[in-house]
Amino acid sequence: MRALIVDRSAPGGLRVGEVPEPVPAANQALVRVTATSFNYGEVSHGIETAAEGTVLGWDAAGVVVQAAADRSGPAVGTPVVTLDEGGGWAEVRAVRTDWIGVAPERAEPGALSTIPVAAGTALRALHRTGPLLGRRILVTGATGGVGRYAVQLARLGGAHVIASTGDPARHGEALRALGAHEVVAGPAQAGGGLDGVLDMVGGAQLVEAFDQLGEGGTLVAVGHSAGEGENFPFGALFSGPGRDDRSIVTFMLLFCDGLDRDLTWLARQVADGVLSPEITWRGGWDDASEAVGALLGRRLHGKAVLDLT
Ligand SMILES: NC(=O)c1ccc[n+]([C@@H]2O[C@H](COP(=O)([O-])OP(=O)(O)OC[C@H]3O[C@@H](n4cnc5c(N)ncnc54)[C@H](OP(=O)(O)O)[C@@H]3O)[C@@H](O)[C@H]2O)c1
Repeated sequence: MRALIVDRSAPGGLRVGEVPEPVPAANQALVRVTATSFNYGEVSHGIETAAEGTVLGWDAAGVVVQAAADRSGPAVGTPVVTLDEGGGWAEVRAVRTDWIGVAPERAEPGALSTIPVAAGTALRALHRTGPLLGRRILVTGATGGVGRYAVQLARLGGAHVIASTGDPARHGEALRALGAHEVVAGPAQAGGGLDGVLDMVGGAQLVEAFDQLGEGGTLVAVGHSAGEGENFPFGALFSGPGRDDRSIVTFMLLFCDGLDRDLTWLARQVADGVLSPEITWRGGWDDASEAVGALLGRRLHGKAVLDLT
């Protein structure tokens, strides 16, 4: 079968090649992949560190062509959206059934492929901030794949949503259209009293965002795109009136249970137009290097979808 293979001598570190079809374990279904989407983590850390010849790919949408031998998961012919630690950038993937969401027949595969890492992370990270209705929530890195879903989901949950981007003049209108009540140029402008923060950037932005938390507020450290350390000035972790009981929690999507249910729910929201997949780049097998370069260069804001047909 065709696959995108790690080859660091090729543009973007990937080339199209032939690999054997995967052999599924008892709890895995085989899925014919029709679309995948790229995530920052796999195109940065993944391509840089994987062994040459590896087939990466966390997100993939397609159709079940062989049900799991242990009879878990969907039947042959079911349209699905899938998540795994690799193998999604190929014509066929073997995937454990608790990482498969069932999609409505009407759903568009490219839109579905944006869901697993980006929307799954946004949903689960928002759960970590607690109730959303009437709460003040800041999303940093709001223009990215996770950020755009986080803005939409926080708004859907009834939060007052503050979106942070390095370039509000360029992205403000789009972020407001997704549901942001305010668009700011950094966490320091969030106005304080935050109940929750989804931080996709890390470094100085995490430190600034923590300072904006109100009493009982939770910062979920999702991403570290800034690639720098978090240096808290003396006093930053003091308690005080309106600043007691603040916390920072770490997060890893792949350690979450019950993702099949979330993927199924998210697929329905995207198919029904409740959530926008925010596809800002789309290409085919031979175009991968363009998307990799744009994501790494912070020029691609939103989701990059690759049609693998
Ligand atoms: N823990 C987990 O399970 C998990 C799951 C998914 C993603 N992540 C991580 O979460 C982060 C976001 O993922 P994503 O897929 O949404 O990435 P993305 O599409 O690249 O979006 C990240 C956004 O952050 C901003 N940004 C990028 N580089 C930056 C820098 N050096 N300094 C400040 N801002 C920067 C950009 O917004 P502006 O240019 O508009 O400022 C960009 O749109 C990544 O670090 C990813 O690895 C973690």
